[in-house]
Amino acid sequence: MQEIETIILAAGKGSRMKSNIPKVLHVLGDSPLLGHVLEAAKNISKKIHVVYGHGGDQVKSFFNDEDINWILQEQQLGTGHAVREVIPHIKDHSRVLILYGDVPLITLRTLKLLLNESIETGFSILTCILENPKGYGRIIRDKNGQIESIVEEKDASEEQKKVKEINTGIMSIRSDLLKEFLPRIKSNNAQNEIYLTDIVDMVSKSGRQIKSVTTSEEYEVSGVNDKKQLSELERIHQLNQADQFMRDGLLLRDAARFDCRGELSFGQDCEIDINCIFSGKVTLGSNVKIGPNCIINNCSIDSNVQILPNTMIENSNIGAGSCIGPFARIRPETVIGENAKIGNFVEVKKSSIGESSKVSHLSYIGDSNIGDDVNIGAGVITCNYDGTNKHPTHIGDGSFVGSNCELVAPINIGKNSVIGAGSTITKDVPEGSLGLSRSKQSVIANWKKKK
Ligand code: UD1
Ligand code: CA
Repeated sequence: MQEIETIILAAGKGSRMKSNIPKVLHVLGDSPLLGHVLEAAKNISKKIHVVYGHGGDQVKSFFNDEDINWILQEQQLGTGHAVREVIPHIKDHSRVLILYGDVPLITLRTLKLLLNESIETGFSILTCILENPKGYGRIIRDKNGQIESIVEEKDASEEQKKVKEINTGIMSIRSDLLKEFLPRIKSNNAQNEIYLTDIVDMVSKSGRQIKSVTTSEEYEVSGVNDKKQLSELERIHQLNQADQFMRDGLLLRDAARFDCRGELSFGQDCEIDINCIFSGKVTLGSNVKIGPNCIINNCSIDSNVQILPNTMIENSNIGAGSCIGPFARIRPETVIGENAKIGNFVEVKKSSIGESSKVSHLSYIGDSNIGDDVNIGAGVITCNYDGTNKHPTHIGDGSFVGSNCELVAPINIGKNSVIGAGSTITKDVPEGSLGLSRSKQSVIANWKKKK
């Protein structure tokens, strides 16, 4: 088996993006365009060459950790010129897969078919039939259907422009053919560019057969040239993911209003309502129900959890059977125990909440360790910050904190204690005691309101 090397062309300016960011660094789903192409390439070949140009240093530093042979194309003289710059780095007996850095949704399945097709004759190209082929290079075949050449739109005759089979630009070619023919390509065409596509005509004239694979999925070969196309491909990518999730048993109330920008895994009978965004790595147990407008990043959510509408959860674990929201915000490093309840307008940060404990309304819980079966009344605030440092709050199992209390950290509240509503607690409260800090209520009889 010949070794496969991949060349990814990514030197184009991308001026139509109207952006300071190089085109291939624009993000689709969870990674930049070039990241998607690299993922596909890594699955297929060990050796990856990326041709870069404009904004290249930014691109290189983004992919610093990847094993890539970066090749600078100082002047963008055409796709043929770009590949020519790589020739000195290509082995003599390999097969070369050519991909575009701005065509992110190419599938492994198609690439494998394409590579297979090139085994016999050493050359295969990926084509696609488009209702509207405008702007693309057209595939010109002879009367037997053999590929003769590719003609660019700008060089095409009226007759050739009617051809609906287009060149996707993606090809697989044996390195000896590439090395033999590429140096001979001239730039005598409408754009004065060195067209990689001219190699097709040369190889065909040399009596060799060029094979093709035709994909019926236009999205696979769609490039991103502007932000509208980026947004269109994002939606297609999301719908593709949603399709797969639904086939695997996830219920999406509306697949068109679902975004996963990372990895999502789930057990049986999970349901996700509209407008939710998942990012990072999210794991759902079984029977997890997520209401509309929730944003969930890097979390593990155990079975039978309900996340009510408009909740945000980040870098946290939610224990089985708990209920979070509506309008809750769970910030990083939080662990919610089983069967706990976090209600509306509650913010929890870097805290653990024990089993069956409740924080039902309007609270801030930060840097806290709350035991099991604790009830935190409405409007309780852990005062964790003294202006310089953060301090912890500990609340033992079975305690009850009345509404509207401030717990000034560092503070310990022992098990089975009660804190009277409206207290500001600054000293530790031992196990089984009542902590209270309010002034006595006075009542003045027959009080007249001032006029
Ligand atoms: C190219 C093909 C055309 C095909 C189309 C598919 C040629 C001559 N034409 O046309 O047949 O239908 O793609 O999208 O190949 N690039 C470089 N260096 C350069 C020029 C381009 O790295 O000097 C990179 C670009 O960044 C891009 C890719 O090559 O990723 C394609 O270049 P582009 O200028 O978009 O080619 P098209 O004119 O669209
Ligand atoms: Ca293009």
